[in-house]
Amino acid sequence: MTSAETMRGTRRCVCPGSYDPVTLGHADVIRRAASLYDEVVVAVLHNPAKRGTFSPQERRDLILEGCADLDNVRVELFADRLLVDVCREVDATAIVKGLRGGTDFAYELPMALMNRHLAGIETVFLPGDPSLEHISSSLVKEVARYGGDVSGLVSDRVRDALLAHLREQ
Ligand code: PNS
Repeated sequence: MTSAETMRGTRRCVCPGSYDPVTLGHADVIRRAASLYDEVVVAVLHNPAKRGTFSPQERRDLILEGCADLDNVRVELFADRLLVDVCREVDATAIVKGLRGGTDFAYELPMALMNRHLAGIETVFLPGDPSLEHISSSLVKEVARYGGDVSGLVSDRVRDALLAHLREQ
């Protein structure tokens, strides 16, 4: 850390999500957040009552594998928690999210305003890379379920893990 960073404190952000599983779109946002902040906490928020495709630990491991070269990124799991409480716990000053378009904005804006209402924390939106705009975890899973090729939507490691899960079902 430089002396200027020491003086103003570490700028830490949270990149929250379900990450079931992490896509190349998520990875792009995490990578860009890591270039803007001193530290990034990728917060995998899950609801224990809802069984996802991947366990929280699998989601964490797949995110970590995708950003192993970034030494200012860590991944943490949180169950049944408000995002603002997660931000307080890790001492983050901002939430960073990617926006793929107007539909994302309509979904994200009330959450950003609620989080600011609850804790005064700001949400920073990064415009999604247009080449990744069509990617979501749910679409990737649907494409894979019906035999489509998800290469170029998720990492090879995530694709293989997804295919292994489908074979087990
Ligand atoms: O990847 P997702 O599913 O779009 O992520 C949504 C997530 C987990 C970021 C959002 O549901 C969330 O913040 N959940 C934590 C509970 C919470 O704080 N709810 C109030 C939001 S204003």
